[in-house]
Amino acid sequence: MKIQPVRGTRDFYPEDMRLRRWLEDRFREVSLRHGFEEYDGPVFEHLDLYTAKSGEEIVGQLYNFEDRGGRRLALRPEITPTLARMINQRHASLPRPIRWFSIPRLWRAERPQRGRLREFFQWNIDIVGDDSVTADAECIAVAVDLLREIGLTPEDVIVLIGSRRFLDAKLSEHGLARDAIDRLYAVIDKKRKVSPEAFHDMLVDALVGSSVQAETVVELVAGGASEQKETQALFALLAQLGVAEYCKLDLSIVRGLAYYTGIVYEIYDRGQSMRAIAGGGRYDQLCDVLGGPKMPATGFGMGDVVLADLLAEKGKLRQLARELDCYVIGIGKGQEKVLEVVSACRRGREAEGKDKDKGLRTDFYHGTSSNVGKQLKAAEAAGARFVLILREDLLQQEEPQVIVKDMAARKQWKKPLAELMRDPRRAIGGS
Ligand code: HAM
Repeated sequence: MKIQPVRGTRDFYPEDMRLRRWLEDRFREVSLRHGFEEYDGPVFEHLDLYTAKSGEEIVGQLYNFEDRGGRRLALRPEITPTLARMINQRHASLPRPIRWFSIPRLWRAERPQRGRLREFFQWNIDIVGDDSVTADAECIAVAVDLLREIGLTPEDVIVLIGSRRFLDAKLSEHGLARDAIDRLYAVIDKKRKVSPEAFHDMLVDALVGSSVQAETVVELVAGGASEQKETQALFALLAQLGVAEYCKLDLSIVRGLAYYTGIVYEIYDRGQSMRAIAGGGRYDQLCDVLGGPKMPATGFGMGDVVLADLLAEKGKLRQLARELDCYVIGIGKGQEKVLEVVSACRRGREAEGKDKDKGLRTDFYHGTSSNVGKQLKAAEAAGARFVLILREDLLQQEEPQVIVKDMAARKQWKKPLAELMRDPRRAIGGS
């Protein structure tokens, strides 16, 4: 019986894993650079945590199940509700503002398609306990910093920024009630995914029973918000933070999740031919809805899937080779010494405190051949920076020697074995 992987999941072979780690390292590095601290939560939660306020879109995409105790649980489709729950639990003791990041693995039971899988990773940046527009601007600046860090320019990507606060005000001036506005947002969020005609029809449906025309909404989301102080202030801050060239106002951005309350944004490839790279915004009521105090919050999530697709398309995805510091091969009776040398290299210099060396990433030839050419080929395939050659005749000298071969510089030299055993990193480094 041959079992296939589940559709929408990915296997991470070592070469895929290198890319995943590389991206994760960039997420972490950029987060720390902006003063955020890492957190994580459980991968499953009570289903109620998501049904409370995330909105239909997420709830329809949940992997949920009942455990043996009859509890209704769900695999996390996002980490924002977990964040709110965790903050609520300790809100009295946490210093504000709370600036946290996370790189959770998430699950959504959606139809797998380009850029959307059933299992993915999502970098999250959130600032909680700060209602200033500076906090929104800062989150956007962190996202842009990451994009820059991995080589994406304003020619490659764009941050489209909208404002639910602004649209709320406009739409309630037109007499729309809260639930009608929320229904309308669910439709506006689909604008990019459907034809203009289909969008118009969906608006008409959503506006049944109100006096508002679909055209009014189309115009509203196509317009500028020049009279709006909050977005003006935001763009001034984005300029100070040096990221304005990546950003553009677009009132048709409202986000699909129900909990957003203010500034919202999505990041796209310039051609807008792919799904969103990231999405986020202000959600001032989520802690409150989940039984905590009133707590302003803002942040975003950026997935790994579209980002990798975009880098590949732009030819900016680096091939990351396997990295090994050192590979040991033995010729003739030299083979008998291989394990001792390998072990010394992996241990590194034995010393106290900061003089302790963490050891070299070392592997050795696992075959039986004593052929140098064959063994060197294996060393090269393993991505070794240096090869240590243990030759029978050199080991039998009064002061035994090994050959150190620098694979990149294509140079080689001899070193006393005793020196290598004592301090392998130094012995290899100093030619
Ligand atoms: P979201 O818009 O649902 O927001 O997801 C944000 C990003 O996660 C998307 O732009 C996309 O890059 C990635 N993503 C979402 N679903 C998938 C999928 N099925 N496959 C691959 N990537 C996906 C949220 O999740 C909010 N909780 C973000 C947030 C944090 N808001 C405030 N703080």
